[in-house]
Amino acid sequence: MREQVLTYLSENVPPERVNHILRVEKTAADLAAVHGLDKQKAATAGIMHDLAKCFKPQRLLHMAREEGLILDDILETNPHLLHADVSAIVARDTFGVEDEQVLSAISNHTLGSAQMSLLSCIVFLADSVEPGRGNSASLKVLRQVSQENIYKAVYLTCNCTIEKLLDSPRLIHPRLIATRNKFLVKCKY
Ligand SMILES: [Fe+2]
Ligand SMILES: [Fe+2]
Repeated sequence: MREQVLTYLSENVPPERVNHILRVEKTAADLAAVHGLDKQKAATAGIMHDLAKCFKPQRLLHMAREEGLILDDILETNPHLLHADVSAIVARDTFGVEDEQVLSAISNHTLGSAQMSLLSCIVFLADSVEPGRGNSASLKVLRQVSQENIYKAVYLTCNCTIEKLLDSPRLIHPRLIATRNKFLVKCKY
């Protein structure tokens, strides 16, 4: 199946994005190994997390509606946020992925979710800390904490993303805030 996914990616995603996806695949598998999770599941979710990254906004909206996903104003005006949920639909319908944990990990990779499993947390973190993201001081901290305390790493990653969004004219989806709050509580108590 990996070969089929690679062929799909080469036809649907620019090369630099494919390289990001392959780094997420490896980073997710490595984090899974550190935390005693199934490496293969993490790698599968990693290589499939951005299958719909380059879909046009209308296609994302159409597929999300067909699936019966609840669309709020922020998703309607920023359909790109739906690429995570739609990537899970492609994983299921094009590549036959049935594992709900893997599909959820794909769906949750952008905004997270207050109910994220450890596998979802790992893919969420891998997307943010893969080596191609750079070497800033905050990324170095996130990479270290990702090894030591997954819940704390999720909380800190949400903070970093929210800080970046605050410096931009982009909307912040409440699901990201809910993820941040939930994992702050989980790592503190
Ligand atoms: Fe993505
Ligand atoms: Fe990504």
